Amino acid sequence: MFGSKAVVGLDIGSHKVKAVQLKKKGNTLELERFGVADIYPNGDRTAASGDPRQLKIQAVQRALNDGKISAKHCVSAVSGESIIVRYIQLPQMPEQELKNALRWEAEEYIPFHIDEVNLDSVILGTSSAEGKVDVLLVAAKKDLVNDHLEVVKATGLTPVIVDVDSFAFLNCFEAVYRPSHQDCVALVNVGAQITNINIYVGGTSRFARDINVAGDAITTAIAQKTGVTNGKAEDLKRTLGAPTPETKEPTEEEESSLISSIRGTVQRMTGSDMDDEGLDSGSQKAIRNVLTNLIGEIRRSVQFFENQSGGATVQNLVIGGGSSRMANLAAYLSSELELNVEVFDPLRGISLGPGLGQQQFNDAKEHLAVGIGLALRKVV
Ligand SMILES: Nc1ncnc2c1ncn2[C@@H]1O[C@H](COP(=O)(O)OP(=O)(O)OP(=O)(O)O)[C@@H](O)[C@H]1O
Ligand SMILES: [Mg+2]
Repeated sequence: MFGSKAVVGLDIGSHKVKAVQLKKKGNTLELERFGVADIYPNGDRTAASGDPRQLKIQAVQRALNDGKISAKHCVSAVSGESIIVRYIQLPQMPEQELKNALRWEAEEYIPFHIDEVNLDSVILGTSSAEGKVDVLLVAAKKDLVNDHLEVVKATGLTPVIVDVDSFAFLNCFEAVYRPSHQDCVALVNVGAQITNINIYVGGTSRFARDINVAGDAITTAIAQKTGVTNGKAEDLKRTLGAPTPETKEPTEEEESSLISSIRGTVQRMTGSDMDDEGLDSGSQKAIRNVLTNLIGEIRRSVQFFENQSGGATVQNLVIGGGSSRMANLAAYLSSELELNVEVFDPLRGISLGPGLGQQQFNDAKEHLAVGIGLALRKVV
């Protein structure tokens, strides 16, 4: 049914695998097929047994089956704190010379030995500094890329491009929102283990950083604070959502009486059977702690970007990823960061292929931006 040219955008996250196949229809794009699969049973990493690599391979196969995707080639991506992105200025010179110069320059900017990384670069354009060009430099640890490629190849797919999650998200944002060159937007993809922050301005990326705080950190914090299982903590996270902006922080006194009431309840009962009130307040506290951490990282990134020479002012924050489904998260981030925050709709302007239900898509929408961004690299 599909020619050999069909390419699937394959987002192997730490929680879910997303497989996306796009198609060009005249001037518009169609989401032809997509499939999603949990890597761990019921999405609970702590309850899983077996080799994580095998679980990932099986999840890729389930996602492809789920989406009835028969493409044999894929565009996939890596992410995390061992991906280093730097924006540097170099004297204008022919492109090939620039590539050679970059290898030497890179040593200065990358905290790993140059032989340990795969390097890639993109010329962003003429720099604000006289006679120079701005260059985007991306370094990914070879270990990370090789491990990733082993998983991909074991599924029977042939990798054609290995991208970086943060740039796939940006690619999707650019294609579907069509921002103007004046727009300055912080894109924040909050997944399970990793949050990608990428600042888009003047038609390109000008700041990118991955941090290890995302949805799983919230679940783990709830489980640790209240003693419930990870599965129950995940339910609590989804039911409670982010704090409402008007919920005030408990004072020291309230805090200590809260903790003693939780302790008292726990002592009276066996195991982790707190009463609902204790569970809710303990969980809310854990949610708030992790979000405070995440917000601090976003704020520092935005300030770093705005303070560098030529840095514009961030006007909007667009959040995506599975954790952007968290009730009230956009409103909470907005009130804490004093920025407009919206939840990304990766399907704006993309039509649904025949046989794909709106409901099916709505259930997966927030998870699909990276997969769509990857599929866009080779859409036919
Ligand atoms: N309704 C919800 N409320 C809060 N969090 C949710 C909700 N639905 C899903 N999530 C969270 O979304 C996360 C998974 O999102 P996503 O698919 O973007 O992650 P991933 O790509 O697998 O991980 P990563 O990119 O970090 O490696 C999980 O942490 C999950 O708890
Ligand atoms: Mg992800």
